[in-house]
Amino acid sequence: MSQQKKVGITDTTFRDAHQSLFATRMRIEHMLPIAEKMDKVGFHSMEVWGGATFDSCMRFLNEDPWERLRELRKALKNTKLQMLLRGQNLVGYRHYADDLVEAFITKSKENGIDIFRIFDALNDVRNMKKAIEVAKAVGGHVQGTISYTTSPVHNIDHYVEKALELQEAGSDSLCIKDMAGILTPMHGYDLVKRLKSELNIPVQLHCHYTSGMASMTYLKAVEAGVDAIDTAISTLSMGTSQPATEPMVATLKGTSWDTGLDLDSLSEIAEYFKAVRGEYKQFDVAGNTVDANVLLYQIPGGMLSNFYSQLAQQNALDKLSQVLEEVPRVRKDFGYPPLVTPSSQIVGSQALLNVLAGERYKMVTNEVKNYMKGLYGRPPAPVDPEIRKKIIGDEQPIGGRPADQLEPELEKARKEIGQYMESEEDVISYAIFPQVAEKFLEERLSRETKTDFQIAQEGPKNGQSAYHPI
Ligand code: CO
Repeated sequence: MSQQKKVGITDTTFRDAHQSLFATRMRIEHMLPIAEKMDKVGFHSMEVWGGATFDSCMRFLNEDPWERLRELRKALKNTKLQMLLRGQNLVGYRHYADDLVEAFITKSKENGIDIFRIFDALNDVRNMKKAIEVAKAVGGHVQGTISYTTSPVHNIDHYVEKALELQEAGSDSLCIKDMAGILTPMHGYDLVKRLKSELNIPVQLHCHYTSGMASMTYLKAVEAGVDAIDTAISTLSMGTSQPATEPMVATLKGTSWDTGLDLDSLSEIAEYFKAVRGEYKQFDVAGNTVDANVLLYQIPGGMLSNFYSQLAQQNALDKLSQVLEEVPRVRKDFGYPPLVTPSSQIVGSQALLNVLAGERYKMVTNEVKNYMKGLYGRPPAPVDPEIRKKIIGDEQPIGGRPADQLEPELEKARKEIGQYMESEEDVISYAIFPQVAEKFLEERLSRETKTDFQIAQEGPKNGQSAYHPI
């Protein structure tokens, strides 16, 4: 009998849950009142930052993402704080130069992050190495992450090989990230069992509930020896979010895998978020239902709703099934990338164009050209050479690590944003999202120079509630 132990629970309520359920709109004012209670629960960690939250803070909420992190750190004194980092893409959608990667991760650690969950959309470890190296150098815990997908090249051996590469690169733990919710319970069991036998670092599982399988997959993964799982408080769980915390806690209670968490305090937290969720109704469209289409098409739920709205705009909803059938073909042409930011957007918009243009690759996006040039990294399998030729002609794709092509960018950003800059963090925000950050920083400056009376007269800014403290 293998040694069994307590299963760790990572709470995703402050990051993935609201990113998945209501477009990443949760504001800090809804986090702080409950933070102290959550800090006492005894979570293995809380995922509170990164992913789309950084962009969303500045773009929609008029919140400084760095200030959010500092406030959360102050409120969550006993819990390890975790962020989702897109490798060389940081919290953006393109590759950034190494100097910016260094500065961003250093400041993230300084402002409060303990655990860096680092992934790359193509599972190209070269795109993760710099981030891993820096996170380790500043004393962070590195969780090397593999994006899970299915394809003829994605078998268990493939994942084990990637996992060993990540362990070799210095990861302190490994995460399997099932963003589409397509990891089946039985396959999950086999995968975790193999990973546990081949690795000497802890293994964590991150699933989305989308297809309805994730709670079952977690239970089988626990049986196979997984060290930690990601859940969200029940009232912000399921649908496209994570499985609910409370049923997992109850399921494992009294067994050798007992999470040690207290259902009474979780229940109070759930009650709190029930009310919070009501504040975001306009963005909360999916509900808690199971999307069985995910099982059929193996594509993330978010992608499906994107197709739906884009086709509706073009008055072409009758083409939805053609687009859904085109996605796996584009994926095959592209060497079976996992569908996660930014590859999901790249593949999705090309599938749409192929159908709407009436001819495959007659129109291509810039991102697709760059993808074919190797600027996003190496796909899991080679791209179709015929398709590549059609898109970039005889141009040869780059051989090395994409970020090696990039000039340092921090000093340039510092010069450009000088007038609004109050801290090094501002320069980093601007370097990652120039337009969004400039607007945000400019407005912040004008807010600071106005009197409270002037601001009150102007009323709430877009995305802010009327009772936002001013
Ligand atoms: Co996720």
